[in-house]
Amino acid sequence: MKASACHPSEIVTEIFQTFLAKGHRSYGEDVTELQHALQSATFAQQAGEPPEVIVASLLHDYGHLLHDLGEDVADRGIDARHERVGANQLERWFGPEVVEPIRMHADSKRYLCWKEPAYFGDLSAASRQSLALQGGPMEAPEALEFEKKPQFQRAIRVRRFDDLGKEPDMKTPTLEDFRPLVEALVRIPAAA
Ligand SMILES: [Fe+2]
Repeated sequence: MKASACHPSEIVTEIFQTFLAKGHRSYGEDVTELQHALQSATFAQQAGEPPEVIVASLLHDYGHLLHDLGEDVADRGIDARHERVGANQLERWFGPEVVEPIRMHADSKRYLCWKEPAYFGDLSAASRQSLALQGGPMEAPEALEFEKKPQFQRAIRVRRFDDLGKEPDMKTPTLEDFRPLVEALVRIPAAA
């Protein structure tokens, strides 16, 4: 991120440029990272979610684009901790309603495997593979603590849109179509 990026439009342009430069990477389920992001956001929008959930759905895998460990990182048994990488970058410009569901989206999957026995069976092969690397399903003590987190409800909803965004032929709006929503949620850090 350039030090000069200080207007919401500049910040969003740089985020979008990362998607345009690296979004062709495979998400691992017959969709690219960019398709997966757009589909997740579109499902959130179609569900009537508020802007912060739509934007979190759009940006939830931003961290996948920030590492250069390769598209087959999970196949090699490595957890890139992409949810933290993305959230740590994005928390400079977005509030917790956007950032925390992103930070929590891998743990939300672990939580739902505990909460809903059928959830695991519906996961894609790639999601099951990464689940194992991320620590496997939660157990009750961790799950009950997870439910207390302030952004828990939003995080679970973002997770469900993430799980839906794996359709090879789905038509979606473009990244630019989401720009007004994203820009409206950018918080400019106070000058030092
Ligand atoms: Fe995802």
